[in-house]
Amino acid sequence: MRYADYHRRSIELPEAFWAEQAGLIDWHRPWDQVLDATRKPFARWFPGGLTNLCHNAIDRHLPWRAEQPALIWESTEVDQSRSYTYAQLHAEVQRMAAVLRRQGVEQGDRVLIYMPMIPEAVFAMLACARLGAIHSVVFGGFAAMSLATRIDDAQPKVVVSSDAGSRAGRVIPYKPLLDEAIARATHKPDTVLMVDRGLQPYEPVVGRDLDYVAACAAVGGTPVACTWVDATHPSYILYTSGTTGRPKGVQRDTGGYAVALAVSMRDIFRAEPGQTYFCTSDIGWVVGHSYIVYGPLLHGMTTLLYEGTPLRPDAGSFWQLVERHRVSVMFSSPTAIRVLKKFDTAFMRNSDLSSLQRLFLAGEPLDEPTAAWIAQALGKPVVDNYWQTETGWPILSIAGGVEELAPKPGSPGVAMAGYDVQILHDSTGEPVAPGEKGVVAIGWPLPPGCMQTVWGDDARFVGTYWSTFPGKQVYSTFDWGVADASGYITILGRTDDVINVAGHRLGTREIEESISSHTAVAEVAVVGAADAIKGQVAMAFVVPRDAGKMADAAACASLEASIMQTVQAQLGALARPARVRFVAMLPKTRSGKLLRRSIQALCEQRDPGDLTTLEEPLALAQIREAIAHQ
Ligand code: PRX
Repeated sequence: MRYADYHRRSIELPEAFWAEQAGLIDWHRPWDQVLDATRKPFARWFPGGLTNLCHNAIDRHLPWRAEQPALIWESTEVDQSRSYTYAQLHAEVQRMAAVLRRQGVEQGDRVLIYMPMIPEAVFAMLACARLGAIHSVVFGGFAAMSLATRIDDAQPKVVVSSDAGSRAGRVIPYKPLLDEAIARATHKPDTVLMVDRGLQPYEPVVGRDLDYVAACAAVGGTPVACTWVDATHPSYILYTSGTTGRPKGVQRDTGGYAVALAVSMRDIFRAEPGQTYFCTSDIGWVVGHSYIVYGPLLHGMTTLLYEGTPLRPDAGSFWQLVERHRVSVMFSSPTAIRVLKKFDTAFMRNSDLSSLQRLFLAGEPLDEPTAAWIAQALGKPVVDNYWQTETGWPILSIAGGVEELAPKPGSPGVAMAGYDVQILHDSTGEPVAPGEKGVVAIGWPLPPGCMQTVWGDDARFVGTYWSTFPGKQVYSTFDWGVADASGYITILGRTDDVINVAGHRLGTREIEESISSHTAVAEVAVVGAADAIKGQVAMAFVVPRDAGKMADAAACASLEASIMQTVQAQLGALARPARVRFVAMLPKTRSGKLLRRSIQALCEQRDPGDLTTLEEPLALAQIREAIAHQ
């Protein structure tokens, strides 16, 4: 088939197209309707259909794959590995489901998962899916305040956690952060289920904390059947950053998600059941949800869960895993590859990579030198793909399983099935000509698998994503882009205040709010500045309460350290700014709006743009000076 026909059909006849694809998964009862369009811009896929994600990820493969490894865990952090066949994963997930059920978890209840990259985290996700409970995985790198916000929003009945994670050989305690988060939060979970790895001793909270091993012993081997849920039943909530300081709970459905992932496995990743898939992301991010856990298992593959960095024990760690487990499909981020670039390619050549078909990269812009370097070093095709937490699977890529279109350097590719991608003028909302920059938008309906709404806040979903262009029913990605005449799109960065640090999406407003809570801070602006390895880093410009401090270099250094510590303690190390610089005032317009774009431009040695609205020109000069002295 030609890609153009495939894509055109998915847009012009979405119901026929997706009804065909729905055969890729098992249904307990067929749907009444393919698409419910009665409440635009909401789109409900396959309403009336009954299915279960866990059944599709595990149970239905059992007749053929019971003895095939389903989940392989490798940790270069604690030097351990474990492997579970589909039959064993089935047993483990039922055990976890029995434990959760005993704690009162039922269909629709929320379970928050705050865990390192260990198999029990995957069991917990799948156990929730099995019960029809809604999981919300919070990335382990987030600290107490980020966690507390999410606990209050998701209101989990149970939290599943662990004593500690490990990063680059250092134990990272999780439990104290969780305890602090629960203390801060208004909502209190009934139970905290603790998987004790023996990395960091802790005091259990009596009446609340439950040891996982003891809880398993109590439930024995009780089988837990899959709860059949409507295709539109939420499977999970995953929080992501936007323009405001308050993260949004991206709510995903069940049936549409399973169908979309199955399509992506076949058409984009060109994966075969029985092969091994290695995604280096974290289960705390959307890439981990879709391509460590659900996608590979839905497709009957073996998925590799890796606790470790690309550099431990040495720069060959990824490639040794590829060799050891005969990995066919690999998914990583441009940052992980840039980190490897300073090492000899012998680290790759020394491993047998013959099983590897392709390397997929996503999460941030893939620069051409990095793409060329890794393709050459591996001797394998490298495929860029562009998407968002909101969409759950790629918007742009090359659907090589349909037609092997040639990639174009600098572009993640063309629109994937069901995505009516449009490049619109930012103020008129009209389509711009090829070659012209505009906002990347998607016409209604978003295809299956994309977010259903903001958890508990339909108005915010409509107001945030569907109201950029009044009178038009289009979803805004908040990315700038430019299309060429053949539909290849290049992404040119965010239109909002979201930054991307090492492939991790962060809101500058959240960081600003955290810095503002420091008693010595009067005002702050945080912007993302280009960085050779991480893509972007956060830069903070602070107006101290005591302006006298600014003249004293030692006082500035100590205030900088203390501000960084505040952010680290509240949000996590990930959000800590790379640098904090002190100024007497921030550049603002006469109406008091911060000129972030100008500050960002100065950080990147670019022209700060139109400054006619600037209230106080001196403010920009100060930023310039603060940057020069770093
Ligand atoms: O700005 C785009 C950038 O990352 C954002 C989404 O981040 P997140 O919600 O964490 O989801 C990541 C899923 C892969 C986008 O709005 N982005 C993601 N992939 C690419 C990208 N920018 C350029 N090229 C990409 N391939």
